[in-house]
Amino acid sequence: MCLLRVAAFASGRGSNLKAILAAIDRKELACKVVLVVSDLENSGALNLARERNIPALHINHKQFDTNDAYERALLQALSDAGTELIALAGYLKKISLKVIQAYRPRIVNIHPALLPAFGGKGMYGMNVHRAVVDYGCKISGVTVHLVDEEYDSGPPVLQRSVPVKEGDRPEDLARRVLEQEHIVYPQALQLFAEKRVEVKGRRVVIKPAGEETEK
Ligand code: GRF
Repeated sequence: MCLLRVAAFASGRGSNLKAILAAIDRKELACKVVLVVSDLENSGALNLARERNIPALHINHKQFDTNDAYERALLQALSDAGTELIALAGYLKKISLKVIQAYRPRIVNIHPALLPAFGGKGMYGMNVHRAVVDYGCKISGVTVHLVDEEYDSGPPVLQRSVPVKEGDRPEDLARRVLEQEHIVYPQALQLFAEKRVEVKGRRVVIKPAGEETEK
C-alpha cells in the first residue's frame, strides 16, 4: 500500500501529532509522517518526533539572513522528505507564500472552532475558547480546512460540532474540543490518503468511498 507522505508543522505540545501517529500505528490512517517542522527547538511536537525517530527540523526565519534563504531551505527540506501533504497542527507562524504556492491545495490546518466563526489573527489557543464562552455560544467545534494566504480562511474539509455546556470555563471547552480534534484530524488526513478530496472553486467536495480518481 502506498502511504501518503505527510510533513507536520507544530509549535506547541503536539497532541494532534501524537493522535495522528497513534492512528497510523492502529492502521486507521494510511500516511507516513516523513518530517516534523517546528519554529521552536524544544516544542513537544519536535521532541515527540525525536523520540519516534522521525526527521525533526527546527527552522525559523531568524536563522537566515534573508526570508528568501529561509524559504528555500524549508522548501528543500520538504522536497527532500518527499512531502506530499503538509498538516499544520498548532503551528503559530504564518506559512510563507512560496510554500503555499508549492503545495496548495495540499496544506491543511486544524482550528479549534467552527470557522468562519472565531478564526483569524490572534484566534489561537485559549483565546478561541474564551471568545466562544464569552459570546454565549451553545455550540463550538473543530474545523480541518485547506490553507490559503490568510489565517483560517481556506475552505473546510471536515467540521465537527462540540456542545458548550452550562457553566463551561474556556478550559473545559478546550478539553472537550481537543478530544474531537484528535478524532477528526486523522479522519481528514485519511480522506486525502484515499484521494477522496476534490477542490471545486471555494468548496472541498468529499467523494464517496470507492470513487477515487488519481490526482
Ligand atoms: C490545537 O487546539 C489546534 O486546533 C490548534 O492548535 C492546537 C494545537 O495543539 N491549531 P497540539 O499542539 O496539537 O496539542
